Amino acid sequence: MAIFIDEKNGLFTLHTERSTYQMKVGPFGIFLHLYYGAKAENTDFSYRLQMIDRGFSGNPYQADNDRTISLDSLPLEYPAAGTGDFRESCLAVIQADGSRAADLRYQSHRLFSGKKPELPGLPSVYHDDCQTLEVTLKDTSTQLTVTLCYSVIEKLDVITRSARIVNGNKAAVTLDRALSCCLDFPEHPYDLMTFHGKHAMERIPERTPLRYGTTSVDSVRGASSHQQNPFVILCGRDTSEEQGDCYGVAFVYSGNFLAGAQVDQIGQTRLYMGLNPENFSWQLEPGDTFTVPEAVLCFSDQGLSRLSHKLHRLIREHVCRGEYQLARRPVLINNWEATYFDFDEQKLLTIAKNAAELGIDMLVMDDGWFGSRNGDQSGLGDWTVNEQKLKGGLRSLVERVNALGLSFGIWFEPEMVSEDSDLYRAHPDWALAIPGREPVRSRYQLVLDMSRPEVVEYLYQSMEAVLTSANIQYVKWDMNRHLSDVWSSAVPAGRQGEISHRYVLGLYSLLDRLLKRFPNVLFEGCSGGGGRFDLGMLCYTPQIWCSDNTDAIDRISIQYGTSFCYPASTVGSHVSVCPNHQTGRTTPLSTRGVVAMAGTFGYELDISKMSVEEKEEVRRQVAFFKEHASLIAQGEYDRLTNPLENHRYAAWQFVSRDQRQALVCFVLLQATCNPEPLLLRVRGLEPGRMYAVNGQGNYSGSALMHGGIPVPFLYEDFASLTFEIQAIS
Ligand code: GLA
Repeated sequence: MAIFIDEKNGLFTLHTERSTYQMKVGPFGIFLHLYYGAKAENTDFSYRLQMIDRGFSGNPYQADNDRTISLDSLPLEYPAAGTGDFRESCLAVIQADGSRAADLRYQSHRLFSGKKPELPGLPSVYHDDCQTLEVTLKDTSTQLTVTLCYSVIEKLDVITRSARIVNGNKAAVTLDRALSCCLDFPEHPYDLMTFHGKHAMERIPERTPLRYGTTSVDSVRGASSHQQNPFVILCGRDTSEEQGDCYGVAFVYSGNFLAGAQVDQIGQTRLYMGLNPENFSWQLEPGDTFTVPEAVLCFSDQGLSRLSHKLHRLIREHVCRGEYQLARRPVLINNWEATYFDFDEQKLLTIAKNAAELGIDMLVMDDGWFGSRNGDQSGLGDWTVNEQKLKGGLRSLVERVNALGLSFGIWFEPEMVSEDSDLYRAHPDWALAIPGREPVRSRYQLVLDMSRPEVVEYLYQSMEAVLTSANIQYVKWDMNRHLSDVWSSAVPAGRQGEISHRYVLGLYSLLDRLLKRFPNVLFEGCSGGGGRFDLGMLCYTPQIWCSDNTDAIDRISIQYGTSFCYPASTVGSHVSVCPNHQTGRTTPLSTRGVVAMAGTFGYELDISKMSVEEKEEVRRQVAFFKEHASLIAQGEYDRLTNPLENHRYAAWQFVSRDQRQALVCFVLLQATCNPEPLLLRVRGLEPGRMYAVNGQGNYSGSALMHGGIPVPFLYEDFASLTFEIQAIS
């Protein structure tokens, strides 16, 4: 059993294999957070509460003359604004009378097995074998209730949190803020890790010690964004890859978010995650429910590597779904960097023919196959094949690609419209724009108003028509700009704060319908590379194009940062041509292969232009990847170096769950003459077992983990090596 309820003392304890989370109904029904951390059984953590009279921290009226009870200093489970807690709140409500206050007190609870009901319209973690606790809190002066939902996945040390807010009043109220979770800690010796970036350089980790006040990251771009990722880690100052406490919080949501940590006046820390309150408000009519998206909490008392292992397993096994969840993904070749918009069926068939000969599984036709899309200024929204480009149409092309032995995939950017398109000419009001104001263009395009059901319906019909017209087995779902001019004719003036969230709900409803209609099609997410890399999208698309930057050396940092939360099975990664189109850098083909193999693997270059030797190398890479595909996708991933600190070399590894096999990858970032000795210490092997390295020798797991593998002298910048470690006993 994972959840223990001590009815008499109003104590709720959630246990996972290595963590404990505790809440309590405190004085006057105040719902307190008592503990989250390493496992501790049979304990009522209220002994840790230090109730002190603090100046300028007010007291609930019911406390009479007891000045030690204050919402401003007590650790709270779901704090609301306006009634005495001056810290970052989870909930802010504008009541029917215009007052901006809510005061939530415990009302009831319910415990059940499993994780249903699903969150209506929102993606969420799925798991049959878990327990869920729901605790309902009620505002003291109105009929507004908040039901907090906690599901406990014991094995992975994961607790998911979401909430339902119900307006039981006779008049509408407005939600101004509705976060998914907060975690109150009684101290502040913590660092916060966040993952910042930009287009073509996503998820670069940044670790900062918390200071008094607020340290936060967010997105107001309408997508989770390249610029900050909706995943943060709170960890001890001395927590490292291999030791120490850390808490990961990931948001199962793809739009605007806010994540942060606040150290209050007395040095307590509040960590929080949820919908970004900026540009958000939601009118809740009498009887209506607002569902707060899910947040995933994960705890490790064995350092950051373990935290990543657990999150990786959670994402692989309980976030990603569908036919491709655990199946080997096709090794694909994408024509984008090979041709950009300049292609026809002959060019594609030449690429396909060469690819088929080398063992590649799928051809993906990228942007430019539809409408008048001969460049990035036109055509978005017109999802009918351009038969001037693809003579004979889509079906004939797909049949010919299939005849060569490749399956076929296709690119869409459903959420967007070009002004130069039939769709825009017919429905200019379908694009997000504010009446009387010229909208911002980005990449020459506008954003469709996904909050409108007729827009979603149009997209469903158009995409369904394409996907049924030929044997299409993969869709790359792109999104190449962020939202501005967020205004919709679908709702009145007072409800425009709902549009960003309604947009995301519209996106999810379209994805959901298409996935149900085409369960055998693999969907890959993309947003100018990795601009929407989050658990929300991963519920629909089990892989996401990690970055538009395909340079192997930059990719090492991008994939390093991405790996803190997201497993290699979700990381879209391709070998591209050199000099690299984004950086101009030249790296060996072997190294481009090694780096791309820390993901779903594929190619994005004109393979027909490669030399015979290069093609042979591609053939070897594809075979090598296929041989190691399950180790890479299902094994435990470890970061052996931090490329932001170690500029000499980078290394990472995969170990099979039975610890019998490992693949260690090494890239020399800077060659030097007369180098220092270099020993690469492997992780996660069985100490007493004997292993061979690249088919040779007889080393104990302890030797490889503590003594390391000597890396031979490499005489070239960016050279790489792989070490295959195989159990021989
Ligand atoms: C985005 C994607 C690229 C490519 C182009 C096409 O930038 O990330 O991979 O599909 O769009 O326009």
